[in-house]
Amino acid sequence: MTKIAIVYFSSFKGNTESLAHAVKRGAESVPDTEVALIHTKDVDKHWQTLHDADAIIFGTPTYIGSVAAKFKEFIERLAGEVWLKRLWMNKISGGFTVSAGRSGDKLACLQQLVTFASQMGMIWVPMRITGGNYSSQGSEQDLNRMAGYLGVMAQANIDEPAELAPPASDIATAELHGNHIANVARQFRHGRQALPAVYDEYANQTPDGSGSPLSLADLMA
Ligand SMILES: Cc1cc2nc3c(=O)[nH]c(=O)nc-3n(C[C@H](O)[C@H](O)[C@H](O)COP(=O)(O)O)c2cc1C
Repeated sequence: MTKIAIVYFSSFKGNTESLAHAVKRGAESVPDTEVALIHTKDVDKHWQTLHDADAIIFGTPTYIGSVAAKFKEFIERLAGEVWLKRLWMNKISGGFTVSAGRSGDKLACLQQLVTFASQMGMIWVPMRITGGNYSSQGSEQDLNRMAGYLGVMAQANIDEPAELAPPASDIATAELHGNHIANVARQFRHGRQALPAVYDEYANQTPDGSGSPLSLADLMA
């Protein structure tokens, strides 16, 4: 089985959570794929799932032009054993975000996710389709209507309930992205087994058990 983990934070309206479920549905549509959905508040029960995953997909709302603070808290917990021992090296990665504004500075948020993944030595997967809604023939119903390329950019009107926002086109875009990342992860998993690199012997060795990864403070004590 190809193992995919989606780790996300959502709090204000549950919009990022709706997208996380859509990404999961898309990933699960790829054969031999199992998907774990992990809210950052529950991450302490799921470190082993993250260590074992072939791909980790990050999701956060855009808050003040940035990843949400609680999501960043989770990311900073990687700055220790996960970072130093390259525990997540060569895992496939990708991301999604949502904000109220059409732009809302979502790009800044996705760029942060790319940087976080790169610091862990992960391989980032961009959107597989071109941007939608860019001509007089386009519409809000287009897939990738926000024309994001680093990952899913969704938009949710701040006064609408979860059934309406984000709209169906953004939910479908998230499904497509989950499907794409799972396909890439599946191909990479099998390719990696067939053609191991010399460093696979020491890199990406995951610890046993489900404890929290050692922090920088633990490592420097
Ligand atoms: C603290 C806070 C900061 C926000 N900052 C932005 C922002 O910078 N740009 C924007 O377009 N929307 C912003 N929003 C709106 C949220 O991004 C939007 O409602 C999102 O869908 C919430 O996702 P969630 O329900 O998963 O928490 C902000 C909302 C909150 C609560």
